[in-house]
Amino acid sequence: MAALPLGFLLVILQALLCFSDDVKLKPKPASKPVRLFTEEDLKNYNGHDEGKPVYMAVKGVVFDVSKGKEFYGKGAPYNALAGKDCTRAVAKMSLDPEDLTHDTTGLTEEQLQSLESVFKDTYKAKYPIVGYTARRILNEDGSPNKDFKPEDQPNFSIKDEF
Ligand code: HEM
Repeated sequence: MAALPLGFLLVILQALLCFSDDVKLKPKPASKPVRLFTEEDLKNYNGHDEGKPVYMAVKGVVFDVSKGKEFYGKGAPYNALAGKDCTRAVAKMSLDPEDLTHDTTGLTEEQLQSLESVFKDTYKAKYPIVGYTARRILNEDGSPNKDFKPEDQPNFSIKDEF
């Protein structure tokens, strides 16, 4: 086998190194930015305006539940959950107005476990994440919440940016 000139091999090696640097340093930009939603923002996506997507939040994660319009759309059985963070309602499987809140104070161990499984097996498995509630990412004083971790879910593509 004829030996390749050393210079030629070096050029190839350099090209490979440059390429791998590019891959490491330039993450592919996400097609859509992830949003931070205030309670007011989220209300705009409660399903009442048929021209808009339907969003709801569980545990501070905002899901686009538009493909579940038969559940969450205008006049649908779970429409009360749309346009807000209704973690408590999902944990208790309740549509009682006082449970339509992010507040999980006083939930039983069983309710918290049920919340986890619905969050994972229904919401994360079925619906794309479009953002997070401001309450989840920011502390009460507006400073960043250091405990915040982006969800590890397949259709959330820019998690590395957080
Ligand atoms: C008589 C009472 C109820 C019945 C018969 C019922 C029935 C159902 C059925 C059949 C499904 C599955 C639909 C499917 O995957 O094709 C479902 C899903 C669901 N139910 Fe209920 N339900 C009831 C009460 C409630 C209440 C009070 C809540 C309050 C939060 C609730 C929350 C949900 C949620 C979050 C889903 C998942 C929807 C999705 O896939 O996005 N359900 N229910």
